[in-house]
Amino acid sequence: MTAPDVNTAVLEFLKTRRSAAWNALTQPAPNPQELHELLEIAARVPDHGILVPWRFIVLQGKALKRLSEMVLERGTALNIPDEKRRKVAMMFDHAPMIVAVILTPKPSDISPEWEQRLTTGAVCMSLLNGAQAAGWGANWLTGWIAQDRKFMEQGLGLSADESVSGFVHLGTCKSEPNDRVRPDVDAITTWVDM
Ligand SMILES: Cc1cc2nc3c(=O)[nH]c(=O)nc-3n(C[C@H](O)[C@H](O)[C@H](O)COP(=O)(O)O)c2cc1C
Repeated sequence: MTAPDVNTAVLEFLKTRRSAAWNALTQPAPNPQELHELLEIAARVPDHGILVPWRFIVLQGKALKRLSEMVLERGTALNIPDEKRRKVAMMFDHAPMIVAVILTPKPSDISPEWEQRLTTGAVCMSLLNGAQAAGWGANWLTGWIAQDRKFMEQGLGLSADESVSGFVHLGTCKSEPNDRVRPDVDAITTWVDM
């Protein structure tokens, strides 16, 4: 038996990858061509039934300002504590670029909605990995605003059956991101051989 081909560079990347803090991201963000490549990477995920139950909304410039203001309004309407309201507004206002990854559930006898939600999460993760591998800083966020129907429908233009799986922030991170504690894999792994 021959040994499997090992892609050492990819393994090393996967072993050490980590997100940048959202507030450490600055301009420049990916240009349209660079982003297109990242979105192609993001869309290359397992997808039961090939339903493509997601779409992307690329938010930049004035859209981020508009959405930041809407976060403040919605926070007031929903009685969100002032600190949380301002923090999420700042996340939009400060972002160089956000790709909203939208779950667009498709009718299917093969793949229930929960599976479609999982594949959309995989899209977010692949976008993070692709962006980080290309040298961008990236962070996957949601927060209370991602649950607000009014924000989704009036702010982002989603239809009633769509929802936000992630706001993936993209930009330049000049400082090395801090790592965080990682799970003890042995403690959460069960081996079964009978
Ligand atoms: C679905 C999802 C939503 C998240 N939403 C938030 C959020 O709203 N605010 C936050 O501070 N972190 C949030 N996080 C965590 C950030 O992505 C955090 O930076 C991440 O744990 C870093 O992990 P990494 O270094 O392995 O990429 C979220 C993570 C996931 C998977």
